[in-house]
Amino acid sequence: MPLPAHWQAEPGQLLIDPSFSIAITGAEDARLQRAGERFLGDLRRRTGMLPLDFSQTDGKSAKLVVRIEHPSQSVQQLGEDESYSLAVSPSGATLNAPNRLGAMHGLETFLQLLNTTSQGFAVPALHIEDKPRFPWRGLMIDVSRHFIPIEVLRRNLDAMAAVKLNVFHWHLSDDQGFRVESRKFPQLQEKGSDGLYYSQEEIRSLIAYAGERGIRVVPEFDMPGHTTAWFVGHPELASAPGPYTIERKWGIFDPAMNPAEERTYKFLNTFIGEMAKLFPDEFFHVGGDEVNGKQWAANAKIQAFMRSRGIRDSAGLQAYFTMRVQKIVSRHGRTMLGWDEILQTGFPDSVVIQSWRGQESLAQAAKLGYRGVLSAGYYLDLMHPAWQHYAVDPMAGGAAKLSLAEQQRILGGEACMWSEYASPENIDSRIWPRMAAIAERLWSPEDTTDTAALYQRMATLDPRLEELGVTANSSYAPMLRRIAGSDDTSSLRTLADLVEPVKDYTREETAPVEPTSLLPLNRLVDAARPESKSARTFAQLVDALVAGRADADAKDEIRRWLTRWRDQAAELRATEAHAFLLDEVMPLSERLAGIASGGLEAMDYLEGRQPVPAAWKSEQLALLEQAEKPQAQLLLTVVPSIRRLVELGSQPRSSQSK
Ligand code: ACM
Repeated sequence: MPLPAHWQAEPGQLLIDPSFSIAITGAEDARLQRAGERFLGDLRRRTGMLPLDFSQTDGKSAKLVVRIEHPSQSVQQLGEDESYSLAVSPSGATLNAPNRLGAMHGLETFLQLLNTTSQGFAVPALHIEDKPRFPWRGLMIDVSRHFIPIEVLRRNLDAMAAVKLNVFHWHLSDDQGFRVESRKFPQLQEKGSDGLYYSQEEIRSLIAYAGERGIRVVPEFDMPGHTTAWFVGHPELASAPGPYTIERKWGIFDPAMNPAEERTYKFLNTFIGEMAKLFPDEFFHVGGDEVNGKQWAANAKIQAFMRSRGIRDSAGLQAYFTMRVQKIVSRHGRTMLGWDEILQTGFPDSVVIQSWRGQESLAQAAKLGYRGVLSAGYYLDLMHPAWQHYAVDPMAGGAAKLSLAEQQRILGGEACMWSEYASPENIDSRIWPRMAAIAERLWSPEDTTDTAALYQRMATLDPRLEELGVTANSSYAPMLRRIAGSDDTSSLRTLADLVEPVKDYTREETAPVEPTSLLPLNRLVDAARPESKSARTFAQLVDALVAGRADADAKDEIRRWLTRWRDQAAELRATEAHAFLLDEVMPLSERLAGIASGGLEAMDYLEGRQPVPAAWKSEQLALLEQAEKPQAQLLLTVVPSIRRLVELGSQPRSSQSK
């Protein structure tokens, strides 16, 4: 995963035994040598053949020969060739690529192909010709709303490399925190971060870590809005006098930089100059989203400035500001990137627009001559299922109507992980494995759209991500233990496996108390996975039943699930007295028990064990309607499947499938 552009299976397999060896030939590239060492380390871990020396050898005797034509750029560039070809036969494998980027993608493919057979560990014989569909395949992580430590970012970079992503967009400042050490303006981090920021040393080291893995690091300093944290140390940048404190709530806030004062641009020139030295990537993201204009409207000097320049509204003022900032970014040798609100005519056509408000703005940017990256539809914090993200194609919507030249301006896409409800503990589970579905959309051919195959491959990838240190799965049990206040989490897990956090932006609307960055993220809604695997499996069983394809075993399985769900409530009730985090969970648990009992009755009626009482169906539908409502900001995902059972169980006998 992602599925290669072209591949063909061949007979036989290459055994990976203690004699396995790898040679890296062709052009010299120290970073590829190190990638080879990492590859061997991964292989050792996966096979458990720890004491054995998988060493790099010469091209004649090696089992896997990697060959590149030339070194890649020292600072990775957008659009460098990332293609590779991999041929595996029972006697050995060759991996050819123009440069280390393709070679590293090929090594990841090889690792994914490793499997356990009756003869030993093996990679199937095959031929792959692979290259990405889009040159920009990214993940944005917001480290402002909640600080995300470097080691968490590192393991996510490893996982990104495993699915051939190549851009890490680092959302470094926002109302709730300024997360970078500035030596020119140390008040930024000293007053704006609660002490939670990255030193320049840490930043350099993370950029190097990403670069070793073929991932560019694009910094974002969001301006002129989303800037409260800057103003705690530098109120002179703001459009109202302050004083300011770090924002603790979520939402869109009034503070915005003052576009009418020259000192703002002087400050930004020094600051962006410092950051351009720290971040070597060609692109520099200046945010630009969600400026509400209230501070501007309330400031007489700013209003006078607007009148003197014929600027009519706050959008016009933001356009003026962004034009000035673009010149600063350009002066420091960087190309500006911003959210779609910055879109206007008059920028150099190198500017890149990141569309978060919809696919139309991506098309609009392309029409105006700018390049674009799609994020609308790829917001991981909105808790949508993988299939939904997978169905979003950068070339669909408005882009489908563009000319070929305009379409070529669409660089790819980027998933966004906003961190209002993400912590170091649960962020991996919000990113993975759904990120892999988006990675595939951005790498694999357009016609790679089979959802069932997607889920199969995501399931295969899951343990591989865990081996890389991703805690999407491993953080689950400790979080459940904390909620249950017990090592025995089996009944809580039964429930937790079936619930998903509320979707879209409803987490604020449904919150029991106003959410802030100071509230713990230790509730079931924080532990629950964005997409319930159990609900998906159960829905498939019910599909089979409805279609008359369920045999006796399948029917028994449905009953087993329903019985567990019915019984978990009584078990949880017994522990509730000791564990305060279970209080809000109990009503959910009881609802699940209630609808599961109804599901069991439906099975009885369906199998003709009992006649259907007159009022039964309407009672069940009422229970289901109740169960469908969010409780503890969680959704019970099996409601639709149980509703189908109730419908089926209450049908007149003659029309029932067997
Ligand atoms: C955004 O989600 N405000 C870019």
